[in-house]
Amino acid sequence: MKKILFVTSEAHPLIKTGGLADVSGSLPKALAELSQDVRLIMPKYQAIKTYGDVRFLCSLRVDNRNVNLLETQMPDSQVTVWLVDYPEFFNRPGNPYLDGQGDPWPDNADRFALFCRIAVEVAMDRAYLDWQPDIVHCNDWQSGLVPALLSLEPHGPFSVFTIHNLAYQGLFPAESTQGLNLPGQLWAPEGLEFHDMLSFIKGGLVYADHITTVSPTYALEIQTPTFAYGLEGLLRHRKDNLSGILNGIDLEAWNPETDPLIPQHYRAKSLLDKQHNKSELQRRFALPINGRVPLFGSIGRLVEQKGIDLIIDCLPDLMSMPMQFVLLGAGDKAYEQRLQNLAHVYPDKMAVILGYDEPLAHLIEAGSDVFLMPSRFEPCGLNQMYSQRYGTLPIVRKTGGLADTVVDALPETITNKTATGFVFNEASASSLLEAVKRAMILYSDQKTWAKIQANAMNKDFSWRHSAEEYLVLYRSL
Ligand code: ADP
Ligand code: GLC
Repeated sequence: MKKILFVTSEAHPLIKTGGLADVSGSLPKALAELSQDVRLIMPKYQAIKTYGDVRFLCSLRVDNRNVNLLETQMPDSQVTVWLVDYPEFFNRPGNPYLDGQGDPWPDNADRFALFCRIAVEVAMDRAYLDWQPDIVHCNDWQSGLVPALLSLEPHGPFSVFTIHNLAYQGLFPAESTQGLNLPGQLWAPEGLEFHDMLSFIKGGLVYADHITTVSPTYALEIQTPTFAYGLEGLLRHRKDNLSGILNGIDLEAWNPETDPLIPQHYRAKSLLDKQHNKSELQRRFALPINGRVPLFGSIGRLVEQKGIDLIIDCLPDLMSMPMQFVLLGAGDKAYEQRLQNLAHVYPDKMAVILGYDEPLAHLIEAGSDVFLMPSRFEPCGLNQMYSQRYGTLPIVRKTGGLADTVVDALPETITNKTATGFVFNEASASSLLEAVKRAMILYSDQKTWAKIQANAMNKDFSWRHSAEEYLVLYRSL
């Protein structure tokens, strides 16, 4: 049995801004189900929702700051959660990383450096919890200093660093290092320095014993300049210690047969029942209720990564087809505005809800016929997997985890029963449009469509397999 400390800045259902939370909510659970001893450590934000008891564990003094460590439990699991309680940094309203205006909190370097230091104290059993991990598994830049600091400990545990998104690197002005009291030897071009900036993510990329990312294709992509923003050299240098392990999904939370957040349950053998969800979705978005018109859905952060501009650019063409489109998302104000304007122009064909709404996300997955996810890059992506499980065929761009999880519907893959969606290559509105047209044509052949839905719904996206891969990795260190 391995003792694993899982270091993360968000975990579903305690707090979530994106896919990292889904992974942090399910991977530790899946590892615990493989009889591993997993503890998760994360900051105690104001918006955090805990389940069951929260008890005081101990106080630690780090960098002249008194920090409390609290203990609670992941719901329905054996996973213990340790909350880093330092109100001055974490007890603020709203998002873990951004203020009310959508700008990063100005003291993010201090906030997450303190979080990393506490994680290191726990990892070295200096918090007197009588528990020392064999493996410290860190995630994204917010935990990047942990492998760096552990590398200076003579008898530290092994570290694994998972890249969920290389576009977010935790870069801060060099001056911020002074206040952080980091050991001097870390400040070097082959250390935490990146073009005269302090890079949190380099702490993981340089010092972790092993680096993983969340799909095999993204593991290759990030060794090229287009995807690595200047870090490709470092990642190529570390390629023997870099691998891609595909995320799974939470099969209980995302199950069309039992999902409490959708009005009508269904399965591959009772696809007619999916229609009730479609009507309800049309009602929620105030679109004409029509069972025959193909309904396209999309959910996500409205940022360049997600190719939202490709959707916007081809919307006028889409709107000339017999289809409907619903979108749920929040993010870039310019995208929000353009989408709302378009929804005003085509009130009978498309509708947009801005904001973050988990129940509605489930209804969109259940009620749509097609899911649009034309990302420019996508380390793994979860919605295309949720879609497949709900028999909602995804249209995706061939990149990262999208390329690894969706099988394009071609004569050959339809015949051999592997087709699960539509895949296009180029990040352009015309390529996306081409894929939409293919989907529209296939949709008119409902018999074939239902077969592809069944392929998608029967595909195995469970965490078990991926958790086993992580376990093999932990054991190899
Ligand atoms: P990323 O982490 O890059 O945002 P993923 O596809 O990995 O992308 O994960 C996104 C997660 O966040 C999914 O669980 C998705 O359903 C959820 N999500 C994103 N935006 C919203 C929203 N506006 N409302 C509800 N859920 C959302
Ligand atoms: C990131 C990526 C997304 C991935 C998620 C979980 O947010 O953008 O592709 O699915 O992390 O690993």
